[in-house]
Amino acid sequence: MNILIIGSGGREHAFAWKIKQSPLCNNLFIAPGNTGTAMCGINLPIAISDFEKLALSSVENKIDLILVGPEEPLVNGITDYFNQNKNTRHIQIIGPSKQAAQLEGSKAFAKDFMIRHNIPTAGYKEFTVNDFDAGIKYLTEHSYPVVLKADGLAAGKGVLICKTVLEARAEFELMLLRSKFGEAGKKVVVEDFLEGIELSVFVLTDGIDFLILPEAKDYKKIGKGDTGLNTGGMGAVSPVPIFTEALKQKITDKIVVPTVNGLQKDKLDYKGFVFIGLMINKDDEPMVIEYNCRMGDPETEVVLPRLQNDIVELLQATQTATLKNHLIKTDERSAVAMVAVSGGYPGEYKKNCTINGLNSYDLPDSFLFHAGTLQKENEIVTNGGRVLVAVSYGEDIKEANEKSDYLLQQIDFENMNYRDDIGYEFL
Ligand code: AMP
Ligand code: GLY
Repeated sequence: MNILIIGSGGREHAFAWKIKQSPLCNNLFIAPGNTGTAMCGINLPIAISDFEKLALSSVENKIDLILVGPEEPLVNGITDYFNQNKNTRHIQIIGPSKQAAQLEGSKAFAKDFMIRHNIPTAGYKEFTVNDFDAGIKYLTEHSYPVVLKADGLAAGKGVLICKTVLEARAEFELMLLRSKFGEAGKKVVVEDFLEGIELSVFVLTDGIDFLILPEAKDYKKIGKGDTGLNTGGMGAVSPVPIFTEALKQKITDKIVVPTVNGLQKDKLDYKGFVFIGLMINKDDEPMVIEYNCRMGDPETEVVLPRLQNDIVELLQATQTATLKNHLIKTDERSAVAMVAVSGGYPGEYKKNCTINGLNSYDLPDSFLFHAGTLQKENEIVTNGGRVLVAVSYGEDIKEANEKSDYLLQQIDFENMNYRDDIGYEFL
């Protein structure tokens, strides 16, 4: 079959790499893709928001299946667009409907969903400008730290952990009265602060049944030891040592099953990945921090290397609602992803820096996924904050970490920065 991947990051390169290994994949296209995806298939210069062009190109290229990488097109209704258009209706599209994607697109929608289906999550209240004074009162009486969340998509920046009432009130005011996050912050969810260890679980659902993929933990802070500003993700590990069989069972019973059943009860059309961000507290109890309606980045870069199944078979089974006939097969080795970023990221950074060393290594257990890279004449240059993702297998996290670190030592571009401590709590 002919497959189209939508997106252009390390996640999409990892999907392209995995899909290309399937004997079921005939032609592979990526829109718009990057230098890495171009090594696996054909890049189409179409923006992820241009549904019309994506549809035209899908017909022209006889696409049978589309995998949507990032959340934005899903939240904007790409699945509905393809399903409602008579020329593209026949194309299988992996990703939830616009309404179901609200699980990620609106924090208030996700909280309502969790409460309605009895899924453990932090206590919260939501406010708009109309109940601003009630919000200030709520913040004044709340314990600290407290978490403020812009309701809508805010490119990963909409969550603020406030240590004092002063800070919380100032941020609350910035969001509701001064549009700090634009439309996304017109509604604010004020949430209790959860303590514990974070962990991400990835579920593939056909709307009835589900499979749990290998779990992962990502490292969001820019600095070593989880310090400094939040980023899109500086690295990831899989497996996560705290994810025991007992904890997996608990997460399945208390969170995954009620989530999938809740989608059905609420008649939310969902064929795709559910990324569940969890906090595991000191009593080993899982609570949901957030839902995402797609796979994570850089989590995908460790999850897919550990997945031994044919991914195309799983995606087809998602469409035909036959996931129950499949079992997930997992590589027992550990995988560690380390992201090389442009100096200055997540703030201002330079683009167009020559990347050296891309072909100078030959390491059997390591590979590179491209994120923000661009082919320019005879060289590959940086084209984003997150530039490259080194992934390695190891007998344990320590070995995988060392191999990814070694691989990134072979690569060089101006002001390149990365965290060599990915997985540090488990070394
Ligand atoms: P999100 O943008 O929803 O992924 O949130 C970003 C990060 O904020 C999460 O990965 C957590 O580290 C943190 N976070 C979000 N909600 C809470 C909470 N209720 N308690 C503690 N930390 C949180
Ligand atoms: N790594 C976090 C995310 O993909 O949202």
